[in-house]
Amino acid sequence: MKKIQLSTSITVFETVSELPKDVQELMNEAVQIRKTAYAPYSNFHVGTAFLLENGEVVTGNNQENAAYPSGMCAERVAVWKASSQFPDIKILKIAITASSVNNQVTEPVAPCGACRQTLSEYEIKQDANIEIYFMGETGKIIKTDSLHDLLPLAFDKSFL
Ligand code: THU
Repeated sequence: MKKIQLSTSITVFETVSELPKDVQELMNEAVQIRKTAYAPYSNFHVGTAFLLENGEVVTGNNQENAAYPSGMCAERVAVWKASSQFPDIKILKIAITASSVNNQVTEPVAPCGACRQTLSEYEIKQDANIEIYFMGETGKIIKTDSLHDLLPLAFDKSFL
């Protein structure tokens, strides 16, 4: 028996103005699309913007449903949109922001487990890391250099 320590790393930015210029713009797009989320049940609005290698920006937000599990997170709406429209174009960077009607979200909101797994599939497919930047409505922004940092021990095609 042996115990193995897995490590992960994040970068923390204090404000949006500290982000690289292209990421500031990407985060602004995420903020804009967050405003049109359809989230009447949770009142929790998530917006995301993906920068692709061809310069296109693909955005998405969460879409809820009265039959709750039929709704979908912003990140999966956007990644499936990107993969449908631009199947062979790499995703370089993702910006994510979340806000709530009920309270101010001041801590960075990380993608849920199912979204991490879904995004991981595309990072493996494109054989290139995806940078992910996530924040609340205000406050710090966390960056990970790869899905590996968000989802160590991911399930992938090698198990099939
Ligand atoms: N949500 C996202 O859009 N992305 C996540 O990674 C976490 C959760 C949405 C799903 C649901 O509409 C609302 O936030 C509350 O869970």
